[in-house]
Amino acid sequence: LSARLVDPFQREYYYLRMSITDVCNFRCNYCLPNGYQPNPERDKFLHLDEIRRVIQAFAAMGTEKVRITGGEPTLRKDFIEIVENIANIENIHTLALTTNGYRMAKDVEVWRKAGITSINVSVDSLDPRQFYRITGEDKFDDVMRGIDRAFEVGYQKIKINSVLMKDFNDREFEQFLAWIKHRPIQMRFIELMQTGEMDYFFQKHHISGQILMDKLLRQGWQLQPKGRTDGPAKVFSHPDYQGEIGLIMPYEKNFCVSCNRLRVSAKGKLHLCLFGEEGVDLRELLQSDNQQLLLQARLFGALQGKREHHLLHQGDSGVRANLASIGG
Ligand code: GTP
Ligand code: 5AD
Ligand code: SF4
Repeated sequence: LSARLVDPFQREYYYLRMSITDVCNFRCNYCLPNGYQPNPERDKFLHLDEIRRVIQAFAAMGTEKVRITGGEPTLRKDFIEIVENIANIENIHTLALTTNGYRMAKDVEVWRKAGITSINVSVDSLDPRQFYRITGEDKFDDVMRGIDRAFEVGYQKIKINSVLMKDFNDREFEQFLAWIKHRPIQMRFIELMQTGEMDYFFQKHHISGQILMDKLLRQGWQLQPKGRTDGPAKVFSHPDYQGEIGLIMPYEKNFCVSCNRLRVSAKGKLHLCLFGEEGVDLRELLQSDNQQLLLQARLFGALQGKREHHLLHQGDSGVRANLASIGG
């Protein structure tokens, strides 16, 4: 029997965030403002079989949920094959996707058939011009159609991510609330996180999640209790709203207490936290199915080095250049 993924602080990891590419076709101002710069030397992402082996090892150690991230994961030509492979792995009950949504209107039905059980989409503005200003792409209408289409093909609830920033979309808070009044959407406001390339940008545009939380509480939103496998987001509901609000406040004191996720980058490095460490290389142990036990031992060993809290509060040392290589 394989060991479970338990860290020194008794947190158990049921949830893996698997990045399958660094490539992205958007240029979000807080992430990749100059767009992704391709580089064939560097861009050697895990192959289908390597991805499958990573997830088999995690699943054998208790992982039940996999989220496919990127970059933009749906840009991979073998995206559907990857989804089908992961969906077939024993023990994986939830296979989630984080996408910028640009292909959703066209492809969401195929994604669903292949095995994607839930979808998170980034929508940083409900105003097409502001959307363009933030993402660098004129794709607002496509993304909106994609969301409608996702409901049509059978998704019952969708999560939407938005990073509220001063002088960009901060005045749209009320509009977002109105938007989810009659829609089964969990609207998540993600506090802008400081990344290495975005130091100045962060200082200028960061809004504390606490301000949003105070607003919600004043308007009668109620904080939901957390379940055993819930992650760091705080979820609020309101009797007059069909949708919910999720706040992701990484600068909050106890944010990491409920950490339940590990990350593997598109090049096969295990990251114990979104911030502040180099990663442990797994790739050499992904070359054959016979290496599964060694791989599991490496995962368990690495996990024993997981910190209690991320290092965001200790200045910018070790903070990532951007989140595109690790999928947030
Ligand atoms: P669920 O899987 O539904 O819980 O959602 P999620 O919030 O993990 O998924 P998503 O990929 O949509 O993540 C949205 C963003 O939230 C990420 O890109 C990060 O910016 C942020 N986030 C998610 N998990 C963490 C975390 O563990 N630490 C920090 N600092 N930020 C996180
Ligand atoms: N701060 C906060 N959120 C970020 N994301 C990417 N970079 C950052 C950052 N610096 C979010 C995007 C997307 C999710 C996958 O990651 O908004 O929804
Ligand atoms: Fe691409 Fe996501 Fe980064 Fe935007 S936030 S540039 S969609 S990886």
